[in-house]
Amino acid sequence: MSDSSSYFDIQGKGIWEQCQNTLNEEDILYKGVLQFHNKSTQFCLTQYELFRFKKNGELKKIELLTTSISLLNDNTILLQKNHKQVFLKSTPQNIKFWFEQIKNKCIQNNFRLDYDIGELIGQGQFANVYKIKSKKNNQSYALKVFQKVALKNLNVDNVSVAKEIQIMRQLKHPGIIKIYEVYEDKEFICIVMELMQYSMKQQKKRHTEHQCAQIMLQLFMVLQYIHDRKIIHRDIKPDNILYKNQDTICICDFGLADYYNPMSVYQYQRCGTPGYVAPEVLRDQKYDFKVDVYSAGIILYTLLVGKQPFAAHSQNKVVQLNYHGKIDYAQVKASDLCLSFLKSVLSINPQARPSAYEVLHHEWFFKTLGESNYFQLLNNNGQQVQPIQPISKEIQNFQAIQSMMDEEQDESSNSKIQIEIPQPTTQHRTNNNASYQSSIPQQQQPQQQLQIAIDNIQEAINKIKINQQVRELNYLTQTLHMQHKEMSGID
Ligand SMILES: Nc1ncnc2c1ncn2[C@@H]1O[C@H](COP(=O)(O)OP(=O)(O)O)[C@@H](O)[C@H]1O
Ligand SMILES: [Mg+2]
Repeated sequence: MSDSSSYFDIQGKGIWEQCQNTLNEEDILYKGVLQFHNKSTQFCLTQYELFRFKKNGELKKIELLTTSISLLNDNTILLQKNHKQVFLKSTPQNIKFWFEQIKNKCIQNNFRLDYDIGELIGQGQFANVYKIKSKKNNQSYALKVFQKVALKNLNVDNVSVAKEIQIMRQLKHPGIIKIYEVYEDKEFICIVMELMQYSMKQQKKRHTEHQCAQIMLQLFMVLQYIHDRKIIHRDIKPDNILYKNQDTICICDFGLADYYNPMSVYQYQRCGTPGYVAPEVLRDQKYDFKVDVYSAGIILYTLLVGKQPFAAHSQNKVVQLNYHGKIDYAQVKASDLCLSFLKSVLSINPQARPSAYEVLHHEWFFKTLGESNYFQLLNNNGQQVQPIQPISKEIQNFQAIQSMMDEEQDESSNSKIQIEIPQPTTQHRTNNNASYQSSIPQQQQPQQQLQIAIDNIQEAINKIKINQQVRELNYLTQTLHMQHKEMSGID
């Protein structure tokens, strides 16, 4: 970045932060001496930060996640953040070593020197994904490219993008897309990732129970892994499940992922993809890890039946069906065990829904896959799992993200990244099932509006349960209130 400005800049903040705590010896990845302001200075590198020891014994640190790094010349590293620059100098050999250690924890800026861009292989709501080739090792990778202007227009702030990168860097599991490097230039933010073959969205066919069990076992193992680390994915759907080969899946797109909050307060509270999201999210109830279990249940239904349970002609209707969570199990041609498994993961009440850990112990898996195969799949997966970061570091980093949010987030930034609960007079865009939807109000006949409201009431009365009663009724009261206003011509 020649002009030294970054999407991640925070106004009024510098590059160095005061460090209150002492540094844990076991967190240190590397320590050594570099020239800083022409003085030999001791530095320490940890997973997420670079520490500098001052002469008076004080400790200063740079949080690396949103810091840009470049090799200025053979003996100088330049770190930049919030329009501040830090020059670190040493011998070419030492500088090269430090650069290699730090660069994957930072943001680089010379993408075109390192990679050749190939064809477009995927498109999401926020980014395009291209096949790329490394000029260094000739290997192919996938590149997720965010256009900064588009992000701003979609109201996606720097905190969300930083969180996506952070979570991807933190998670190391064979069922999760590996992240290698991050780049930024004037126009784009780019994430270099492991290349996958195709997404589940491209597979429309019905699957056998055995195939389903193989896929779902992998999916729930990944969910258990991320939930153990207090992370909720919040956008499990076929577009975000990729195939490494015919039998092996990986999940991608942590753009909506967030750290679990016991008070159920999240950035983008009502988010996810209509048709896949858990009803408690749409109902504005407290939610947690179980939302991912529900979405995985929708995946299983879709694999078994060949179509989604809440498929409808309009996005509006999809959200309504999804809100009520009423599923037609008659479409599912599967064993009783499979059906009971499916019904439990699709329980409307999250308390009745099993956790990913509990799901993995369901009889359906070892009956369908065979016990030895089941245990082999579980163990193979376990053996490939790389060592994980200690929880303390994850929390540290969560705090870094949190402080970034405190600095940056304005009140309006959440509002657009919400699924709108459709009122009967409102039609949603029908041309995609994108994660973040806004609604476009359209006029309907008053009688039609009233009929829809009556249908809604009938539907709700049929299925109201004690613990959902108040919310359901609130929703319907609002609906009727709107009908009334519109019929009386009040704008
Ligand atoms: N590592 C990858 N290898 C191959 N294809 C990918 C990879 N990552 C993403 N894709 C494809 O690109 C699409 C968009 O990527 P995604 O990360 O989901 O972006 P968004 O956040 O915009 O939804 C995915 O649905 C998938 O089809
Ligand atoms: Mg996606």
